[in-house]
Amino acid sequence: MSINYNDKVAVVTGAGNGLGKSHAIALAARGAKVVVNDLGGARDGTGGSISAAEEVANHINAAGGEAIADGANVTDEGQVGEMIAATMKQWGRVDILVNNAGILRDKTFHKMEMADFKAVLDVHLVGSATCTHAVWPIMREQNFGRVIFTSSPSGLHGIFGQANYGAAKAGMIGLMNALHLEGTKYNIRTNVLSPSAKTRMTEDLGIPEEILEQWTPEAITAAMLFLVSDEAPSRAIVSCVGGGYARAYMTETDGVYLPPNKQTPEEIAAQWDVISSQENLHFYDNSAGPNMNFIQKAKAFADGK
Ligand SMILES: NC(=O)c1ccc[n+]([C@@H]2O[C@H](COP(=O)([O-])OP(=O)(O)OC[C@H]3O[C@@H](n4cnc5c(N)ncnc54)[C@H](O)[C@@H]3O)[C@@H](O)[C@H]2O)c1
Repeated sequence: MSINYNDKVAVVTGAGNGLGKSHAIALAARGAKVVVNDLGGARDGTGGSISAAEEVANHINAAGGEAIADGANVTDEGQVGEMIAATMKQWGRVDILVNNAGILRDKTFHKMEMADFKAVLDVHLVGSATCTHAVWPIMREQNFGRVIFTSSPSGLHGIFGQANYGAAKAGMIGLMNALHLEGTKYNIRTNVLSPSAKTRMTEDLGIPEEILEQWTPEAITAAMLFLVSDEAPSRAIVSCVGGGYARAYMTETDGVYLPPNKQTPEEIAAQWDVISSQENLHFYDNSAGPNMNFIQKAKAFADGK
């Protein structure tokens, strides 16, 4: 069955270029009314102009879709509030939020100014939270919402020279976990994308051109479209690149229980292989999971099992 977004209103941040542009065009092509947000700055977040957002909105409208351009800076609560107020005035609802805006300020940590650390966290993590916070009461009221956070392999697995970016992208997992728990009863589903694609962000990484050519933004957009559909899962982390799709999980090993007289660094060293064993990995619904695992293990120990 084909998926459409008829009667749905979507806000896509950072939609003037790259992935966001592809997301906005595809959502509109499948029936959504789209707010094309973009600050229009350089890759490091400096500068800004609404022309990038306008170009994409014009493209959508010329193709028979419905879009409005918005130049809000996702880090500015006032501007984001105005963007959502304008969306409500125009279309009366917000069903889908794709947090996609991003910047890069790569440097090895010892050379990185804290200003560059904070700026990257501000756009990716605080900006995503700011936009989500602005639509959250609307989605609760509607009893419908789909929210995407755009993370990165850098946040899940690490990239040299991206301490700021990796920290921001990993922070989104925690944000999603809490919002999944808080949003479920209002039919708000939150998911994370971990993409790699050919955009201005990846143009100078030395990835061979014949590989990069296959890393299309459209391949990422397909996963985004599924994750904001009516039948979307919630709390999924979807890794995607060049037509490859996988689900990532935050897991924990089964571990060991050590009684009080063995809660020593020496015993932990002795048990390290067992503690680290990936044989019986757990994916928990919430933070009570690991506590319950160890409460049961402690009880079994006390019962002599
Ligand atoms: N391209 C990749 O391989 C890749 C990999 C992992 C994650 N990502 C993430 O995907 C998202 C999109 O990146 P892209 O590759 O399309 O890069 P891009 O630079 O082409 O697009 C990012 C857009 O965000 C906009 N933006 C930046 N700061 C903003 C702000 N404060 N407010 C509003 N808009 C702002 C920029 O103007 C730009 O148009 C980013 O979050 C990025 O970190 C991309």
